[in-house]
Amino acid sequence: MTNPQLSLTVDGLTIPQLGFGTWQLEPADARRMVAEALRIGYRHIDTAWIYKNEAAVGDGIRDSGVAREDIWLTTKIWTAHFERDALLRQAEESARNLGFTPDLLLLHWPKAKPTFAETIGALNEAKDQGLTRAIGLSNFPSGQFREAQRLSPARLVTNQVEYHPYLSLKTLRDTAAELGSSITAWSPLAQGKISDDEVIGQIASAHGKTAGQVTLRWLVQQGVIAIPRTTKAERAAENFDIWDFQLSDNDMARIHALNRADGRLGDWLDKDFQWDKV
Ligand SMILES: NC(=O)c1ccc[n+]([C@@H]2O[C@H](COP(=O)([O-])OP(=O)(O)OC[C@H]3O[C@@H](n4cnc5c(N)ncnc54)[C@H](OP(=O)(O)O)[C@@H]3O)[C@@H](O)[C@H]2O)c1
Repeated sequence: MTNPQLSLTVDGLTIPQLGFGTWQLEPADARRMVAEALRIGYRHIDTAWIYKNEAAVGDGIRDSGVAREDIWLTTKIWTAHFERDALLRQAEESARNLGFTPDLLLLHWPKAKPTFAETIGALNEAKDQGLTRAIGLSNFPSGQFREAQRLSPARLVTNQVEYHPYLSLKTLRDTAAELGSSITAWSPLAQGKISDDEVIGQIASAHGKTAGQVTLRWLVQQGVIAIPRTTKAERAAENFDIWDFQLSDNDMARIHALNRADGRLGDWLDKDFQWDKV
């Protein structure tokens, strides 16, 4: 059977558009759920040094029996490690924890000090040393996204940011497109809040799907990468079952219209920076 899941090509790299997130998963759950997700068919796993589960994620990949080269694996440099030497040390530690070289290494949150020039330079060095295949960002507003790419010889292949029906990302999506990059949506299910949404519920009933499936389909149909998380095998399977239906333009517009001013769920942005207005 051909593989129906969608991927994006960014800077010549193929990134599966549906990944499995592991934030807040204790090591035992991370190991079990990563193996389960890969058995279900996911081919993209997201972790971070600060999640304290990189070793368990590596174990889950080995348990699954899926070949490493068939998986897109992302981890992130924590903000305490943004000086050059510390960044390179963490990149080595993350690869050691995982037992694999990651495909993608992200800067977890933008930070004013040290300078972007130092941190982006070190991230490029990590790539040049073979500590990752590709590099990118997380939680960078448009201005800092542009500045980081200006300083980076290598393409920053994604900016992983909060994105779901309650938070518009129009400006940042346009910036990513302009820079030849991509957006990866964290908290794509608004941490489960989409379950109670009337509009999403109506669209889900019309398609014979669940609210979670409709929300993830809305993201991938925009050309966005989404990385939902769950502790439950049956939900991981539900969230992966989105390749056999399409949302209409009207469905897409109705979900976009759910954007609201207080929709942001997680905000640890350095006080020197500001989110895009929309
Ligand atoms: N770069 C960053 O700064 C950053 C920040 C936050 C997150 N992330 C990444 O993004 C991933 C996803 O974000 P997230 O974990 O915050 O939130 P999320 O995926 O939007 O939501 C996870 C929550 O939704 C529930 N859930 C899962 N599938 C569901 C479904 N089909 N219907 C209803 N509820 C469902 C889960 O509960 P159960 O476990 O009970 O199923 C869990 O409580 C993270 O795991 C992490 O990898 C990155």
